[in-house]
Amino acid sequence: MIDPKTIKWEELGFGYIECAYRYVSKFKDGKWDDGALVTDSNIVLNECACVFQYSQSCFEGLKAYYTKNGDIVCFRPDMNAERMYDSALRLEMPPFPKDKFVEACEKVIAANKDFVPPYGTGASLYLRPFMFGSNPVIGVKPADEYEFRILVTPVGPYFKGGAKPITIKVSDFDRAAPNGTGHIKAGLNYAMSLHAIQTAHREGFAENMYLDPRTRTKVEETGGANFIFVTKDGTLVTPKSDSILPSITRRSICYVAEKYLGMKVEHREVFFDEVKDFAECGLCGTAAVVSPVGKIYDHGKEICFPSGMEEMGPWTKKIYDTLTGIQRCEIEAPEGWIKVIK
Ligand SMILES: Cc1ncc(COP(=O)(O)O)c(C=O)c1O
Repeated sequence: MIDPKTIKWEELGFGYIECAYRYVSKFKDGKWDDGALVTDSNIVLNECACVFQYSQSCFEGLKAYYTKNGDIVCFRPDMNAERMYDSALRLEMPPFPKDKFVEACEKVIAANKDFVPPYGTGASLYLRPFMFGSNPVIGVKPADEYEFRILVTPVGPYFKGGAKPITIKVSDFDRAAPNGTGHIKAGLNYAMSLHAIQTAHREGFAENMYLDPRTRTKVEETGGANFIFVTKDGTLVTPKSDSILPSITRRSICYVAEKYLGMKVEHREVFFDEVKDFAECGLCGTAAVVSPVGKIYDHGKEICFPSGMEEMGPWTKKIYDTLTGIQRCEIEAPEGWIKVIK
């Protein structure tokens, strides 16, 4: 384990650094145990564990960080608890109780205080709650035993270059089957996106724009973030689809845009054909925060956004400033959005 005093916070990318503690709870004989913080970062499992055979696993992602006044806070962990609950049900796993999820986040952050990046470094502590079927299973069926864990790792920006607009491509690959099986709905099955992500990176693009696999006419999301678009008259438009991750950041942005910035907000199907008419485009997520997209490459053609080629467009900047201001407790947050870690 690295000594946290030696970490160069400003230089962190989005990678894994082993921290002192992780939270572990086990499900056996029909119930979850009390859960505890442990120091061992390794997991020993039987070769036939359900997670290896049938990929019975799901995960979440959220961040903790210092505010200006020295508090450590975490953003809307109850929303992650709820989404992971839904993921578990979809995968025939016993859902981890939502109140215990939030409690576990608090415990693991408090235990790893030394790994929370200082205020103003642009870095934060990323929490990765995950859950998997742990007992041996060979016939296709769910496991009987499970492990719920939260690992933490300090991270910097997700995209290299910070707030500089990125270029993405329309993916050549579908991440989901056209009949909706194997889709990413609630933080599951990312393996199907790995080839697409690596291909985009090899070609020099920061991300993929996935279209709906059935008709390839509607915008879904990217490999790790939802889309936000702004029309020329300042309306925020976010794609609606059953087969994208219901981003907590995107839902928070829609609220912020309407209630704090007075923008008109539309959450609806977005056709790829209309993307060229938007003034601004961005990606949003826990890891991506709000990252501007300057250009979308579509098989030889390019869509360049009038605002946002060199820097964040004006509306994207307002959204970014307001959301991060709320997250850092510099702008008053809606009730229940900020959890202070004691
Ligand atoms: C596929 C995908 N979409 C969207 C998001 C954004 O979701 P959230 O805002 O809840 O982090 C993520 C994760 O960050 C993701 O992996």
